[in-house]
Amino acid sequence: MALLPILTYPDPALKQISQQVEQIDDALLNFIAELEATMRNGPGGVGIAAPQVGRFERIAIVDVSSKPKIKQHGRLVLINPEIHRWEGMKVGREGCMSVPDFTGNVIRAEQIALSYLDEQGQPQKLETSGYEARAIQHELDHLDGLLFLDRLVSRRNDLFKRKVYK
Ligand code: NI
Repeated sequence: MALLPILTYPDPALKQISQQVEQIDDALLNFIAELEATMRNGPGGVGIAAPQVGRFERIAIVDVSSKPKIKQHGRLVLINPEIHRWEGMKVGREGCMSVPDFTGNVIRAEQIALSYLDEQGQPQKLETSGYEARAIQHELDHLDGLLFLDRLVSRRNDLFKRKVYK
């Protein structure tokens, strides 16, 4: 399976807004498989969004099942995702394959509800919270051209240089 090259900050393409997926066909499913392989190959790969590999369509993958003892829904392929409820706020540390040298503290909703299409094109709804909700919000930001760097309250206090990205 081909791994896809990841765009990294400050590549201006990461600011591009992605388009809705119009058709889920074999070519798209093949792309999703490559996107997932790229995520799983990456350090800390709990999520990825299509624009991170230069494909500007509204597709994200999240799988936080490698994190122990958290509520989660396993492998999620989110096509045309839409968050329609946000509750609570919490600060947490985030990293990103497109920002390999830094992590940052970002405020996210503690609980979210979203709708999306699955790989069969079926509409799905999901309510989630905590780390999984954070990962989904992070990945969906990529679809709107936003990085966690854009959400830091303070670059001086909330941005941290990584020593080793494993
Ligand atoms: Ni990211």
